[in-house]
Amino acid sequence: MNEIGYYLNVCICENITCGEIREAVDQGARSVRDLNKQLSVGGQCGKCVCTARKVMKDHLVETDYDLAVPA
Ligand code: FES
Repeated sequence: MNEIGYYLNVCICENITCGEIREAVDQGARSVRDLNKQLSVGGQCGKCVCTARKVMKDHLVETDYDLAVPA
């Protein structure tokens, strides 16, 4: 991921970037609930949840982590 991609803001309410979500996946997050626990993603308006899930799934595929992501 390039530097711009890392700093792309996914959750505006909590100021969470794409890179932070990827790091959370590296540390074991496998669901939006996990991301919410670790980063508070989606904890306010919730508009970022679909994008956060997509970033998480893409990173799981790119890194060959366990692909079993709960819906
Ligand atoms: S944009 Fe993520 S909770 Fe509002």
